[in-house]
Parts: sequence; C-alpha cells; structure tokens
Amino acid sequence: VLFLVQGDYVWMDLKTGREFDVPIGAVVKLCDSGQIQVVDDEGNEHWISPQNASHIKPMHPTSIHGVEDMIRLGDLNEAGILRNLLIRYREHLIYVSVHPLAFYYTTHCPYWTHGCVGGFTNLNSCHLCSGESGAGKTESTKLILQFLAAISGQHSWIEQQVLEANPILEAFGNAKTIRNDNSSRFGKYIDIHFNKRGAIEGAKIEQYLLEKSRVCRQAQDERNYHVFYCMLRGMTMEQKKKLGLGKATDYNYLAMGNCTTCDGRDDSKEYANIRSAMKVLMFTDTENWEISKLLAAILHMGNLQYEARTYDNLDACEVVQSASLITAASLLEVDPQDVMNCLTSRTIITRGETVSTPLSMEQALDVRDAFVKGIYGRLFVWIVEKINAAIYRPPSQELKSIRRSIGLLDIFGFENFTVNSFEQLCINFANENLQQFFVRHVFKLEQEEYNLENINWQHIEFTDNQDALDMIAIKPMNIISLIDEESKFPKGTDATMLHKLNSQHKLNTNYIPPKNNYETQFGINHFAGIVYYETKGFLEKNRDTLHGDIIQLVHSSKNKFIKQIFQADVAMGAETRKRSPTLSSQFKRSLELLMRTLSVCQPFFVRCIKPNEYKKPMLFDRELCVRQLRYSGMMETIRIRRAGYPIRYTFVEFVDRYRVLMPGVKPAYKQGDLRGTCQRIAEAVLGKDDDWQIGKTKIFLKDHHDMLLEIERDKAITDKVILIQKVVRGFKDRSNFLKVRNSVLMIQRYWRGHNCRKNYGAMRIGFLRLQALYRSRKLHKQYHMARRRIIEFQARCRGYLVRRAFRHRLWAVLTVQAYARGMIARRLYKRLRGEYHRRLEAEKLRLAEEERLRKEMSAKKAKEEAEKKHQVRLAQLAREDAEREVKEKEEARRKKELLEKMEKARNEPVNDSDMVDKMFGFLGTTSSLPGQEGQAPNGFEDLERAQKELEEEDLDAALPLPEEEEEDLSEYKFAKFAATYFQGTTTHTYIRRPLKQPLLYHEDEGDQLAALAVWITILRFMGDLPEPKYHTAMSDGGEKIPVMTKIYETLGKKTYKKELQALQGEGEVIDTSTHIDGHKKNSVRHKLVSLTLKKKSKLTEEVTKRLHDGESTLQGNSMLEDRPTSNLEKLHFIIGNGILRPALRLDIRTKA
Ligand SMILES: Nc1ncnc2c1ncn2[C@@H]1O[C@H](COP(=O)(O)OP(=O)(O)O)[C@@H](O)[C@H]1O
Ligand SMILES: [Mg+2]
Repeated sequence: VLFLVQGDYVWMDLKTGREFDVPIGAVVKLCDSGQIQVVDDEGNEHWISPQNASHIKPMHPTSIHGVEDMIRLGDLNEAGILRNLLIRYREHLIYVSVHPLAFYYTTHCPYWTHGCVGGFTNLNSCHLCSGESGAGKTESTKLILQFLAAISGQHSWIEQQVLEANPILEAFGNAKTIRNDNSSRFGKYIDIHFNKRGAIEGAKIEQYLLEKSRVCRQAQDERNYHVFYCMLRGMTMEQKKKLGLGKATDYNYLAMGNCTTCDGRDDSKEYANIRSAMKVLMFTDTENWEISKLLAAILHMGNLQYEARTYDNLDACEVVQSASLITAASLLEVDPQDVMNCLTSRTIITRGETVSTPLSMEQALDVRDAFVKGIYGRLFVWIVEKINAAIYRPPSQELKSIRRSIGLLDIFGFENFTVNSFEQLCINFANENLQQFFVRHVFKLEQEEYNLENINWQHIEFTDNQDALDMIAIKPMNIISLIDEESKFPKGTDATMLHKLNSQHKLNTNYIPPKNNYETQFGINHFAGIVYYETKGFLEKNRDTLHGDIIQLVHSSKNKFIKQIFQADVAMGAETRKRSPTLSSQFKRSLELLMRTLSVCQPFFVRCIKPNEYKKPMLFDRELCVRQLRYSGMMETIRIRRAGYPIRYTFVEFVDRYRVLMPGVKPAYKQGDLRGTCQRIAEAVLGKDDDWQIGKTKIFLKDHHDMLLEIERDKAITDKVILIQKVVRGFKDRSNFLKVRNSVLMIQRYWRGHNCRKNYGAMRIGFLRLQALYRSRKLHKQYHMARRRIIEFQARCRGYLVRRAFRHRLWAVLTVQAYARGMIARRLYKRLRGEYHRRLEAEKLRLAEEERLRKEMSAKKAKEEAEKKHQVRLAQLAREDAEREVKEKEEARRKKELLEKMEKARNEPVNDSDMVDKMFGFLGTTSSLPGQEGQAPNGFEDLERAQKELEEEDLDAALPLPEEEEEDLSEYKFAKFAATYFQGTTTHTYIRRPLKQPLLYHEDEGDQLAALAVWITILRFMGDLPEPKYHTAMSDGGEKIPVMTKIYETLGKKTYKKELQALQGEGEVIDTSTHIDGHKKNSVRHKLVSLTLKKKSKLTEEVTKRLHDGESTLQGNSMLEDRPTSNLEKLHFIIGNGILRPALRLDIRTKA
C-alpha cells in the first residue's frame, strides 16, 4: 500500500497503450479523501481513485530535481530519463550525460554549457553526434570544433582553415527542410590533428552519402542546396549576365518547393561568407568561376523543355530548342546538339554494334536528372577533396606514433519515414553499425571497470544487435550483397531483388517479408524499431552509374573543370564502369573504414534530442522525446548496467551518503579505512550474502540494494529530522510557554491586587456606612429618649403653667367679674340716683312753680298749671332716659361686635411669615438685591435713593442709638470693639460680602462655620446678597426641614474642619487659629467632592448635584440652605443659632 502525503512525487502511468507513452512524473496535491489528486509535469490535474492506485509509483529522490549525470538516477528508465531531460530543459541546463554518452538537446536558443566540453579535450578520441534531423548534431559539431580551436590557444592559419571548411560544406551540402532550416544532407567525419603542443595541425574531412536527389527534386516548403540561392542573390549583375542567370523563381530546380527564401538566412551575405571561406581554403578565382558555371549549367538544364514524340511505334521525345539549352551547352562547353542527343537517346553496344534507341520522355527526364545529380555529386566530392588538400597534412613517418587526433562524426541519425528508400537503408545500416559499436563499447567499459575494481563479472550478459548486422551486411548472402548482386545482374529488377531477399531471409526474425506478392516493400527489425523499405528504384540508386553517352558528352567537353571532376569515370572504360563498385559497396567500405578509425580511439557519444518539431523554444513534446530516446540506444546502456551492478559509489560518496545508517560513523574525510567502513555499512544494511560487491575504489550495488539503502537512509534522516524538529519545537514552545506563563502570572497578580483593593474599598465603604448607620441609630434612639423625656417634662411644665395660669385667670376673672359687677351696680346706682335727683328736681320745680303761679292764679289753677308743666318735664326726662338707654345699648352692641371680631381674629392661626414680611417688608423681596423693585416703604424712600452711598456707610451714624441711655459709652465704641476682637482684617464697618472667617474667634469649627453661615444669612436677610438660585426638587417639595432642626443637626459635629479650611483656603486667607499643614491646596470643588464621598448627607448630595450642574457661585457652607428662604426662615436661622450656639451670640450681636 502506498502512503502518500501532499508534495510527494510519483510516477503516473496512465496506461494509454500508445507506443511512445511512458509514465509521467507528478506531484501529489491532495490525498485526504480516498481519491488522490496529482498534477503532472505538464500541469494537468488527475484524480486517481484507490482502485487505480497501481497507476502510481513513488519516485526516487534523484528524479525529483534532476541530476547532471543520469547514471545517478535511481529510476533509470525511460520515464526517469525523460523527466530528467524535461527538468533540465526547463532550467536551460541542456547538457546531461550518461557516461560515455553525452546528451545535448536543441532548445532553439543559444545555450551551451561550456563546462561539459571538458571530455572533448581527451586526445585520440572521437565524438559521435547522432540524433534526428534538426536535433543539433551539426550545431554541436561546429561548437566542438570552435571549442577545440579556442582551447588550442593558437590562432593559426590552419586552424582558421579548418573552421572555414564548415561554411563551404554547409553551402553545398545543407538545405532547408521542413524540420531544419540548415539540414545537412550528407554525413561527415572530421578528424582534427593536433601536434605535440596541442595546437591544431591539420584536419581531414570524410563525407558520406550526399542526398543528390535534392538537386532535382524538393518537397513542398523545402529548398535545394543553399549554394544555388546564395549564388543568385550574391553575384553581381555582370557575373550573372555572363552565366545567363536570373531570379531563383525562374528555375524549375529551385522553385519546386515553392520556397526560395529561408527565414533567418541572408543568402547574399552567406554568399560573401562562402566566397571568403573559399579564399581561405585556397580555391582559386578560376576554380570558383568554374564551380559557378557548373551550378548555372545545372539550373539551366533544369529548365529544359521536352516534347513527346513517337518514332516507329516507340515512345520518344525531343528537347525543345531554347535559350536554356544553348546557355547550358555553352557553360558545359559542349555542342548543344550533342546535349540534345544524349538526353533523348541511348547508345547500346550489343555484340560489337552500337545501336541508338530513343528514350521516352520519362526516361529522358531521368537521364537529365541523373546527369545533373552526377555533376553535383562529383562537384561536392571535388570540393571536399579540395578542402582536404588545404587542411590535411599527411603525417611524417617518424612522427606518426605521436600524432593525436580528435574525430567528430556528424552523421544522419536513424531514419524511419512513411516511405523509406535505398538511402534510408544505407543510413540505418550505418546507424546499426554505430549502435553495435556503442553497445560493445559500453559493455567493454563496464568490463574494464569491473576488472579494474576486481569485481567478478562473469555472469553479466548483454544483448546486442549483431544478428541484425549480420543479416544486413556481414554474413554471406546478406541483404546488401544480394542487392549488389542484383544490381550487377543485367536483367535484375527491383522485384527480382525483393524475391531473392524473401527467399533468403524470410525465416530471420529480423526480416519482415512482404505480406503478399504484390507488395513491393520489406521490413527490417532494426535496433530502434522496424523500418519498411520500398524497393522501387533500389537497383538504380545502388548502381549509381552514369550512362556512357553522358560520359562521352563530358569527354567531348572543352571545359577542363567538368572533365576533371568526371576524370575517374572518363578514365574507366565502359566495361570497367559497369563493374565499378555500387553505391552500397562503396558506402559499406567507407563505413568499415570509419569503424576502424573509431575503434582505435576513445569514443564519446553525443546524443542530440530535439524537444519539438516546430523549431520552437521551451516546448517539450514528450512522445517525440521518448521516440528519440528509444532510438538513441540509451536503453542499451541502461540494460547493460542493469545486468551488472548498475549502482556504484566511490567509498567517499558511499560513506558520506549512508553513514547515517550506522550510528557513530564519522564523515569520510575523517575516516582511515574507508573500504572497511563501506563494507561494515553494507553488511549491516544489506546483509553479508547478498549480491553486492566491493571493489578497489567503489562499491557495486544492484538496483534493489540502492532502493533499500535509500529507503533506510530516508528513514534514518527522517528520524533525525524529526528528533531535531522535536527538540527545536519543544524548545521554542517551551520558551514561548514560559513567557506566556510569566505574563499570565503577572496579569493575575495585578488583577488580584486590583480586585482585592476594589473589594476592600467596597467593604470599607460598607463598614463605614454600617458604622454611620449604627451611630445614627444610636443617636436616634438617644434623641428619641431625650425627646420623649423632654416632651413629658414639657407637658408637665406646661400643665403646671397652664394650671397656674388658669388659676390666675380664674382669680382674675373673678376679680374682673367682681369689679365689673361692682361697676355695673355702681353705674346702676348712679343712674338710679340721678333719676331720683332729677325727679326730685322736677318736683321742686313743680312746687316752685305752683307757688309762683298761686300768686297769679288760683291755687288750684296754679296747681293744675304746674302739674301740666311738670308732666312735660317728666316726659322730657323719660325721653332723655330712653335716648341714653338706646345709646348705651348701641355702645354695648358695638363693643360686643368688636369683641366678637377680636375673638374671631384671635382664633385664626397666625402666619408668622406674613407677619415678619409685614414687619420687614421694607427690606425688599428676597429674589434680588434690596430696594431695587417695588415701592419703598414709608420713611425708607431715602434708602432707595441713597442705595449706592449706603454700601460702606457707618451704620452707627445712619442709625443713631437711642438717647435714653445716660451712661458714658464713649469708652465702648463699636469700632474699638471691632478692632480689638474681630479676626483678620475685618473692621467694624458693615461690608456686603461673605466673610472668610467669623468676626470673633471660636474654638469649635462648627461654631466658626455657623458664624459664617449666619453672616451670609444676615446679608441675605438684608438683601445684600442674592438668594441662591438653586432649586432642587427636594427643596421645593413638601419635606422642608425646619430651620431649627437643621441647626440642631449641625450641633456637635466635628467634621467641619476640612470644609472650613476649604472655605478659608479659597480666598487664600490664612487663618491664624487653624493649623494649615503643608498639603498642597486643592480646589474647593475637589474638597467638596471628597466631602461628598465621605458624608452621604443630603446636604452634600445637593452640593454634588450642584457641582455637576456647574454652579460656581457656591457659598460652600453646608449649613446654609441652598434654596431661597423666606425672611422668617432667615430670622429663625439667625436667632436659632443664637439660641443653640451660645458662643455665637456675641458674634451675631456684633454682626447685627
Ligand atoms: N545549441 C543550440 N543553440 C541554439 N540553437 C540550436 C542549437 N543547436 C541546434 N540549434 C538549432 O537547431 C537547428 C538544427 O540544428 P542542426 O545542428 O543543423 O541539426 P542536425 O544537424 O541535427 O540536423 C539549427 O539550425 C539551430 O537553429
Ligand atoms: Mg546536420
């Protein structure tokens, strides 16, 4: 079961079944749920369900980030190699190696790691570049060449010449194909010779199998060889005119692929390069011109026009007379008619007779193309020879032994197209050879290494491609020889050849015969896969001979140059020509030569891999790369390695890597016996008997050993890592924890302290309140007891007084009654006596009158007369009495009414306040300053007017003392008293603002405060101070506390000291009597606040409230009422204080 965590690398095999599909690397992204989400190297996401778990395998650590030497890869398989290439490609590290393989792959951007070229300095070595077309073989060869030139250190002429050979070869041998803009269409082997000092001494170039067909035929979007286009672009008009040349598009041979230009190539510049290179390589101007002439002739030949004819029922044709023909003939310096003839007919010599037969149009075209190809092929060979002549110095006999050389082989890689022909067979044959060479070399190397290390390698086997090689070219009746034979056989055709191949090889496993008789292709199982070859044209291509007529034509030419390049052909007779070696045998021979050269030197293999087919940078086509890898023979190396001991470490490496597996093993540089240590480690981990070996400098392991070691190492390291992590984390967390704990303790400490203090405060306040309550209750009880007693006492006193008064009143009433009755009786007596006197008077008068009248009249009459008058007087008296009686009654009634009224008035309750107001109303209302509103009372009008002057007036003067006192009071002047007894700076004059301290000295703070309060009250009463503006709900509510009660409350309190200090401190007047300590003076407000907090009395509550209301004109005396009070209340306050605080009496009096 596979345990994966996020970030693990795995191999994912999607099992698509495609040929070039190999497992892809992926990284695990999610694996919590049952499914595993992975992201592969191409960035695609995959979900892998548990039942598909076999699709993924863990990745060897070496594959994760890539290695430079791929032999180090733990996963040494296609997938591992591919991933390594991918990683390094992305990092622009395009050089990797698997000794003796050097990998190099095209990125299509200029990268070449110079460090890697170290191996190339190995003298007497050869470097074999192989790879697909466009993979970078030529480019690498050039780079190696440049590198060698650079490190040889001497910029000699010969060195320059060697370098300059390349542009010429490329011009004639390279062309633009769809895969490569500069594809070499031939194989080459450059052997560079060095002298003793390592300087380039010369070189030799070998060329193989130029693709001649390209001269006549190009596929779509491909070009002919560069040189044609360069010539047309780079030549002067004059030169072109001489050669009759025009534009590239004018020529059939150039315009066939519909592509005459190549992006990124400047043909005219290239032409200049070619010309200068040719100069360097000793091409003379005439040679140059001759080459141009031949090239121009080829182009003109390509433009020849044919017309089909029929002669004697035979297909024939004619060349149309045209400028092209004339120019071509003139350039070849032959007769145009000859040209026409030899292109349209063939001379056959049978039995000593020469017969000319016409050629069909098709055949004629083939002849022309063959001629052209012949010219170009020979020209190319000539050029290579010319170059070699310039750069090759044959070794002098005596120095031969010490000559050193480095060979560079730039050869076409294995080819497998949709249609493969004879050339492909040759190419693949060459590759088969090289592969064989490679495999053997690798095995040899392995063997050497094992020998060197004293390792027993007898049981190691490997497979090579000897069988295939045998079938193709080695064993009798091999394929090449059969083709050759058939080529020489006059009646041989491609079909007969195929038949022979079939009959000879159909049982060979490497041979795949055609499926039926009609098929014209056979297959060969090459080391890199099966390739099917189309047999059509095989023999013709193999023969590679020119028709005798053509040779004749060349012979007839006056052009020395063309004669020179055809020299060999011309020299041979017709018969020898027929027996001349075929292309395949030539190729085989040169290949054998090459292999021989290679076998004597140390080979290095450079495998070029192209990442994509589109000539694009940073695009990695996995399938393409896998294919190339497979054909590169890579796997062969791997197979050989795997057969033996694929993993090998030097002792140092091994000890350093795996010493973690054995505790106590020191690093390699501290070790004396490295071999022994290695052995011990290996024995401990792998077991004694397992198939691993220890050599002289290395330890040799199998794959599974490495796996085991890696797993163990991983485990051991993981354990150590976890241990370190544990300790570090423990340390980190512990120190963190300690820090946090300390902080927590500190916070706790502070919090608890704070909490306790808070609780203590609350408790203290509680206790204080409890105390206060208890005290108040005690006082309350005492008070009530006292009160009850006093009331009882009062009652008794009053009872006594009332009884006494009653007795007294009774006595008074009785007395009054007695007197009143006496008075009434006397008054009655008086009145009765008066009446009696008046009646007596009236009688006397009557008698007197009767006497008088008797003189005048008879007695009787007189008597009568007197009686009459007497009656009148009596009536008068009675009337007067009645009147008086009425008057008296009236008087009595009035008195009674008055009495009743008074009685009524007496019974009505007396309003003291009204009374006081009535009495002192003149002083004005309480709400504002005195005398400022309303009518001044009688006698006080002047006060109103003189209000201003009144301020500091001497009241003595204003209010003269009564004069009754006869004593001499001059000694006791108020001013003198004031000066003597008044405190502070106060004088005897009346001031209209609050005092800071009482006028007289008082011991008790309460008294002092009361004195001040009294003073303020007096001022308010007098109207000199405004009433407080403050009205609380409490003050205007029903629960007014009587003034006297309040005064009582203030008595005996000892808490006024501070208040007093605050009041006095306000004006910064230092009271001499009170000690002021050094405390800094706080504001009144603050004091009051603290007061408030201490005394929870209503009074202070009010103060607090007022504080909050921002009242600043506060008098600050808690004894004062904070509300407007009536004059009566003020009087009560003043007098009450006088009564209850005896000490204040004098003070009040002085104030008054
Ligand atoms: N090292 C390299 N850096 C940049 N471009 C390269 C490199 N190697 C090859 N190329 C590009 O790839 C093209 C093909 O290389 P070339 O050597 O001609 O391939 P081959 O000879 O294998 O057919 C070159 O023309 C060049 O554009
Ligand atoms: Mg090339």
